[in-house]
Amino acid sequence: MFSVASLRQDFPILHRLVHDKPLVYLDNGATSQKPRQVIDVISQYYQQHNANVHRGVHLLGDESTQLFHQSRRTITAFFGAKPEELIVVRNTTEALNQVVYSWAEQHIQEGQVILATELEHHSNLVPWQELAKRKKLKLLHVPITQHGQLDLEVFKRLVHDNDISIFVCSHVSNTLGTKNPVEQMAEQVKAKHPAAKVVIDGAQAAPHLPINFNDSPFDFYAVSAHKMLGPMGIGGLLAKKELLSQMSPFLFGGGMINEVRLDEASFADDMEDRFTAGTPDVAGLVGWAAACEYLSRLGMKDVAVYDQVLVRAAVEKLDTVDEVEVVGITDPAQLSERVGAVTFLYKGVHAHDVGQILDSEGVAVRTGHHCTMPLHRKFGWPATVRVSFQVYNTVEELDVLITALEKVKRIFHK
Ligand SMILES: Cc1ncc(COP(=O)(O)O)c(C=O)c1O
Repeated sequence: MFSVASLRQDFPILHRLVHDKPLVYLDNGATSQKPRQVIDVISQYYQQHNANVHRGVHLLGDESTQLFHQSRRTITAFFGAKPEELIVVRNTTEALNQVVYSWAEQHIQEGQVILATELEHHSNLVPWQELAKRKKLKLLHVPITQHGQLDLEVFKRLVHDNDISIFVCSHVSNTLGTKNPVEQMAEQVKAKHPAAKVVIDGAQAAPHLPINFNDSPFDFYAVSAHKMLGPMGIGGLLAKKELLSQMSPFLFGGGMINEVRLDEASFADDMEDRFTAGTPDVAGLVGWAAACEYLSRLGMKDVAVYDQVLVRAAVEKLDTVDEVEVVGITDPAQLSERVGAVTFLYKGVHAHDVGQILDSEGVAVRTGHHCTMPLHRKFGWPATVRVSFQVYNTVEELDVLITALEKVKRIFHK
């Protein structure tokens, strides 16, 4: 197991003060901090190698192109995918829209069914709503139970009773931290509907769990670099190789063509080029690859084990605060199904007020609906407080959180 104390030295931002207090950063579900190994490689790229890719007949162009391809190989190896299976995009949101525009628009017909769930992030809900409107599709949702898990009995019925064309689901819920049994669900969908495609939103799973895309029953898997120690503005859609030839580019222009005439164009046969219109974010890709290398050095199995330590400690410690109600999975026997985040309500105090008081103590958390309005509406939560973890968080930081919550009590429950 890695040493948290020593890896914290890699993250410069963790050493700054916030309101004169040491920073306790528990907003990793929104975005993670970056180690100097990522920051330095991006700076090094601009200081030593910057040039456009695939265009130069000069050394810098060659170096940049090499770094671009090497980074793609590192990132896809991290996810157990083939290099050509990565479509580079800006973030998970764009990756999910890419599935809509590059695959679903061509292959889904009026009256067909998309199965989603009630706990999706808006990024994995709104693009499907819009597609359903445009193409007159039926959009169904697997309900969530009071304990924050998908209702698998209802899921089975929905799969049995409907002609599912696409199943979309988050691997890990950003609000509740619930790890959905996506492999099992994907297999059930495919057993009944062999032509159906499975789209997984991996935004909150990629930072915490080992992923092996090639061994999975998933057709598409969407991720953001910035939640897994990498830079902002870059992410990926992993798409199974056999599907790539059925997908059409939806961004057109330079870099992705084969031949262009005044009235028509043909597109690159190379799948890496075909979906990369315009100049790619090479520095971002290099930074993302460095983040994958960093996590691989720690070992994703150990990253997942350590996340469990933090999840269990957070649930236990929050349970000692009378005013706090943790939502989602809390049963210790089931906590292994909770990943990366613990979310709570504070009796009688709005989440935003809780967040502001915690901030005054140096503790950064996320408050609001976390882009899951339907989930909040279902349970009647006006807003919740979410603490979410990365490898550099410590159990001692959770004690700071609990002490900071006492200030909420002092101010509001005098
Ligand atoms: C589960 C989930 N899906 C999608 C997204 C969207 O990610 P991005 O903003 O990087 O596109 C997020 C971001 O919080 C998320 O948590």
